[in-house]
Amino acid sequence: MIVVRSVSELRRLVSEARHRSERVGLVPTMGAFHEGHVSLMRRAGQECGFVVVSLFVNPAQFNDAGDLARYPRDEAHDASLAEGAGVHVLYAPPVSVVYPDGFTTTVEVRGLSTPLEGVVRGTEHFRGVTTVVAKLFNMVQPDHAFFGQKDAQQALIIRRMVADLDIPVRIEICATVREPDGLAMSSRNALLDAEARARAPVLSRALFAASSLIARGETSASTALDAGRRLLADAGVDTEYFDVVSTVTLTSLERVSGEVLIVIAARVGNVRLIDNVLVHLGENAR
Ligand code: PAJ
Repeated sequence: MIVVRSVSELRRLVSEARHRSERVGLVPTMGAFHEGHVSLMRRAGQECGFVVVSLFVNPAQFNDAGDLARYPRDEAHDASLAEGAGVHVLYAPPVSVVYPDGFTTTVEVRGLSTPLEGVVRGTEHFRGVTTVVAKLFNMVQPDHAFFGQKDAQQALIIRRMVADLDIPVRIEICATVREPDGLAMSSRNALLDAEARARAPVLSRALFAASSLIARGETSASTALDAGRRLLADAGVDTEYFDVVSTVTLTSLERVSGEVLIVIAARVGNVRLIDNVLVHLGENAR
């Protein structure tokens, strides 16, 4: 595996791969790798002969300077995990390569960026994500790019951006990887103290309580959510949102039909966690 910091070096390696007729896969990340990231890298390796992982803690998507400052960083450890996952290039550019002096362009996906994470983190958050991902797509020019269902809103927004801007990349969304107790893997889990870590799995338990009712045929979103709310209250976790939303528009639904997304965000201790599950009405009854 080669660690690359410049666009010219990256382009040279990608074009060599293309001359070997290899398909190019990109996994965009902010580092602090865990099994969730590694699962995307492995999937990329199954589908593409040449895998690029980008590692860039993108200042533009942080609305809080403290959050950016304490974002976990360990490039050497990340490089060894990426190498173990069969990655060919770890692209870790400095901020000055991604945002050189005079940079002023932004890419914004309106509508989908507004609810849920957009409410809590501000619309600048997804503007930062879409701007950097559009740049990464242009820098790498991958055939396929891999994202996690863990960040469901982000995945939907990137699909929309690619469709709207005719970016020639196929977006693949990969299942959320969880700890044995259900907690969705996240770089932020490392910031949980022991007490918060013990309470954190209640997010996924609340999601599964609601989704299992819907899977058994419950069509009232509020009835399904109430089952989860009881668990959250017992654990003393206040949510920022916990809702049943459309998989297409992310708007809140009261009546469930077809496939829906159940989303949650909460602060546990000092750490902000998000999670979601997709569920199809009555899927267990079919
Ligand atoms: P980051 O949080 O590092 O996540 C990189 C990718 O890993 C994202 O697509 C995310 O959805 C996926 N991922 C995270 N946890 C996962 C889990 N438990 N299971 C499966 N996939 C998981 O998301 C970002 O970085 C940034 O916003 C980025 C897209 C790189 C733009 O800066």
